[in-house]
Amino acid sequence: MRAKPLSVTDRLLGWYDRHARDLPWRAKPGEAADPYRVWLSEVMLQQTTVAAVRPRFAAWVARWPDIASLAAADEADVMAAWAGLGYYARARNLMRAARAVMLEHDGVFPRTEVELRRLPGLGAYTAASVAAIAFGARAVVVDANVERVVARLRAIDTPLPAARPAIRVAADAITPALRAGDFAQGMMDLGATICTPRGPRCLLCPLRQDCAGYASGVPERFPIKAAKPVKPQRFGTIFWLERTPPPLPLKMEEPIALREVLLVTRPAAGLLGGMRALPTGPWADAPHGFENAPAEADWRLLDAQVSHAFTHFDLQLALAVGTVEGHGPPGEWWPVAELGAAGLPTVFAKAARVLERLACS
Ligand code: ADE
Repeated sequence: MRAKPLSVTDRLLGWYDRHARDLPWRAKPGEAADPYRVWLSEVMLQQTTVAAVRPRFAAWVARWPDIASLAAADEADVMAAWAGLGYYARARNLMRAARAVMLEHDGVFPRTEVELRRLPGLGAYTAASVAAIAFGARAVVVDANVERVVARLRAIDTPLPAARPAIRVAADAITPALRAGDFAQGMMDLGATICTPRGPRCLLCPLRQDCAGYASGVPERFPIKAAKPVKPQRFGTIFWLERTPPPLPLKMEEPIALREVLLVTRPAAGLLGGMRALPTGPWADAPHGFENAPAEADWRLLDAQVSHAFTHFDLQLALAVGTVEGHGPPGEWWPVAELGAAGLPTVFAKAARVLERLACS
């Protein structure tokens, strides 16, 4: 009797058994997955690369090793620990979901996609990935890597995002009832290491003989992307306000001038909401100079500017520096030498590095 030919699913799982990446949130063979670590990693990995997530994940679980410790954490500490990872609503939702699991589920993660989706911040992708990877449920997990692998495998030639329903149907058709979590992670690993956006390494691919994209001779053509709309350009001003507090009444031979800079907490509702930041004026279609300065001061503009690309717009920031006598306006006055510990989002950390150097020149 001839053996049944291997399916796409069998081939992918066999490849994963041999080539799975060793990642800190994955259970080792024979170990049970920890839903807290799976959930945290899936949230961190949305929009952020595995290489960037690795050290941040390790630091996070050293500080908050389980859902109970995260639920009890101070929100400002959680937001600051997320600094640099971007998309800060993810951090606020992590806290909210941790508290909901403690209060509404006795500290035990719900196991089904439907229940997981009721937690703050858990959309279709996160609920499916946690259900499959942490609890072994059959769930269809489609992230950008899976989207690319499937679009190539079936040579789906509708442009994104209109292709998403067809990609989902095709992913569903190859997702197994057992080992759906391994299957999802295998697809992600294949997308990250072999079926890469540019220069896919088809000769190493376990799905080559099943792949309509490979057969077409131009697999990198898939998924087809709709032309990107041009991003709007916005302008703003960052205000670097320094004060030098009076020296302490210590009899030091040479008192060291302690530089302090004014930090604010951004309004909860807007972009980078709830994050510690340097004060800024409006981010608008044209430069606004010194509008919305945090205090009257000897403001001057530096020659340098800082640019940052957000998802929906590009931002160009003028840099204004000023000093105040005495206590200055209320806010958090932060030692300039310790700004690295303030947990500033990337755009402000970038500006602070320039300002710290140029403000006193
Ligand atoms: N990207 C998102 N989730 C992932 C996972 N569990 N393994 C590898 N890459 C991923």
